[in-house]
Amino acid sequence: MKTKMIFVDKNVDEENSYAQAVEILKSGEVVAFPTETVYGLGADATNFKAVNKIFEAKGRPADNPLIVHVDSKDAALSYVQKVSSKALQCMDAFWPGALTLILQAKPDTFASNVTANLQTVGIRVPNHPVALTLLKKLQLPLAAPSANTSGKPSPTLAEHVDHDLNGKIPLILDGGATEIGIESTVLDMTSEPPVILRPGNVSKEQIEHVIGTVRTSSGNKGNIPKSPGMKYMHYAPTAPLYLIENEKALIEKAIQYVQQKGKRVAVISETQYPFADFNFPLSMENLYASLRKCDLSDADLILASVECDEKGNDALMNRLEKAADHKWFS
Ligand code: TXA
Ligand code: MG
Repeated sequence: MKTKMIFVDKNVDEENSYAQAVEILKSGEVVAFPTETVYGLGADATNFKAVNKIFEAKGRPADNPLIVHVDSKDAALSYVQKVSSKALQCMDAFWPGALTLILQAKPDTFASNVTANLQTVGIRVPNHPVALTLLKKLQLPLAAPSANTSGKPSPTLAEHVDHDLNGKIPLILDGGATEIGIESTVLDMTSEPPVILRPGNVSKEQIEHVIGTVRTSSGNKGNIPKSPGMKYMHYAPTAPLYLIENEKALIEKAIQYVQQKGKRVAVISETQYPFADFNFPLSMENLYASLRKCDLSDADLILASVECDEKGNDALMNRLEKAADHKWFS
């Protein structure tokens, strides 16, 4: 299959580009498109065969459910069972935006592979003009995980999507760099108090300000993971990545130690290390791009400098810990 990439200006309605995307999606194929978090790989959420193409293109395990994207709160409400007042308050406060709500789906609304046969569905209204225009023109719920090969960093540029999925999907809508750079916060509204299953740009504090106490998922130590995707190692670059405390002398010593073994070292940090073989920036917006640049470099080992007091709490730290598989340099 030949992959076509078309540029869609964020602020201009390019009729023909959207018409192509809508036609492809309605014919049961997949299309990659930008959201404010990361690029998504979309398919008609009511069409089993179409959704299956997402799993095939990404190499995604079938027990990992997809997020459904809709253009409005009313559209979301039409697909789910009666929701709590807290869920409504979250929709009003954070949509369109980077908050996915887990709600009880109406039976037989979505293809069974969207929800991995769960009774619940993850749903959000994205805050990106291209995604919203596409959804308004499509008038169908759009199942869309991040548009990367499963296990690789999520794409924040159309080029990242092209790198992973060229030849496997018919169309990429290029809307430039995504603003936020990491995936949405996932909040399970089917528990009381609600539980953050995946941290993201919408913080626990912001949510608590609107609906009161929420819990943070302690991971998936039980038998049935609440958010199935969290059990998979994500965002991993090819070379081994180690976390290291953000302390100049410590990092310089580590660089020297690795280089003495004849290996090349990349540092992902807010600070530049002149003696490192490669330096890549560290922030929420460019973490994934930096991880991908590590893959394109010939670094043998990657160090990511982190503030230890952020350990385990914020969204950036959550992604870094996963990329490093919780390994610390010592
Ligand atoms: O920002 C985002 O959320 C991006 C953009 C494209 O919207 N999408 C995204 O999708 O990150 P994905 O598939 O890569 O991550 C979906 C996460 C997974 O951890 C999955 O397990 C969880 O949401 N999830 C989806 N449906 C669920 C459900 N019914 N119950 C629990 N977790 C669910
Ligand atoms: Mg993903």
